[in-house]
Amino acid sequence: MSQIPPVDLGRQYANIAAETNAAVLEILNSGCYIGGESVTKFEARFADYHQTSFAAGCNSGTDALFLALKGLGIGAGDEVITSTFTFVATAEAICMTGAKPVFVDVTADSFNLDLEQIESAITPQTKAIIPVHLFGRPVNMDRLMAIAERYNLKVIEDCAQATGAAWGMQKVGAIGDVGCFSFFPTKNLGGCGDGGAITTHNEDLLNEFTMLRQHGSKIRYQHDVMGVNSRLDTLQAVILSIKLRHLDRWNKQRAAIAQRYTKLLAGLEEHIQLPTAPEGGTHVWNQYTLLVKDCKRDALREALQEKGISIMIYYPKPLHLQPVFLEYGYQSGQFPISEQCAHEVLSLPMFPDLSIAEQEQVVAALQTVLPQL
Ligand SMILES: Cc1ncc(COP(=O)(O)O)c(C=O)c1O
Repeated sequence: MSQIPPVDLGRQYANIAAETNAAVLEILNSGCYIGGESVTKFEARFADYHQTSFAAGCNSGTDALFLALKGLGIGAGDEVITSTFTFVATAEAICMTGAKPVFVDVTADSFNLDLEQIESAITPQTKAIIPVHLFGRPVNMDRLMAIAERYNLKVIEDCAQATGAAWGMQKVGAIGDVGCFSFFPTKNLGGCGDGGAITTHNEDLLNEFTMLRQHGSKIRYQHDVMGVNSRLDTLQAVILSIKLRHLDRWNKQRAAIAQRYTKLLAGLEEHIQLPTAPEGGTHVWNQYTLLVKDCKRDALREALQEKGISIMIYYPKPLHLQPVFLEYGYQSGQFPISEQCAHEVLSLPMFPDLSIAEQEQVVAALQTVLPQL
């Protein structure tokens, strides 16, 4: 019985080793490791892929969110609405600007913001909404943009887990005021280290962002505002340029794997709720995440582990219950669906090179274990 990892980046590298090695060696030999043409070329390709006017790199998805918010003028005294069921960085970036994160529950079939609940969270202080395209599933951006327009709110799309996803004909990241991406290695487009980027049609925001990422400077050694050091380095940029050429194929492979899981797991609905793709959107399956009913999640995890199958729990605690956000006074029970998700979610192995045999092994294990729990 082979071990099945949740993700295997070594296999992805093996697919593109020759072209990656040549490009990396070229950079190493050039002696130019920060900035340069490789970074600007990647930014242009990333903008082109998203059909946005601009893209700009930085050193993480967290910084992309933080600097995008700051670039839009959001700070102390402002409120920003987002999901409580997401990775901490989404809300962390809001707090880093001095603004307050205002959490909203998700729906259990999408793991995304419950669009019915956004309006009741809006106050005179609300400046923006951050929809998170969690697990690669796009938020219904027609409905979200309609709400934002009605209340004149900025929309910062958290696309960290959804590079290549689309709502209608538009890629996520090209619909709101700005899209924020992470190139953490396990993302759909992941580097060999940290990295991030924004996409936008707004030139003023691009200028603010590029100034903030460069120590608040437009002219060398003149610093107009308080900024940070947040660069997408040259090696990451060349690696990401190569991987971007493969992204659509990899996303199709992920979709085929998701479809196969869904087909093979049919019949277990008594025990698990399977994820779905939204009508009107293209899901890119960064994760294939189930809900395990009747408090059996942790037992299932252990049983799968014993059978050599590593699964992941994204995320075991919603943000409103995290100690770091206690100061905002949220209560247990306030966002029941997110709390339910935190207790029930389980993500199966998912990466483009996962083999059919491995998938069958995962499914066979679930079919054996679930009825026994
Ligand atoms: C939804 C979401 N937002 C933001 C981030 C932050 O990205 P990074 O790790 O590149 O800072 C992540 C990373 O896991 C994420 O999943």
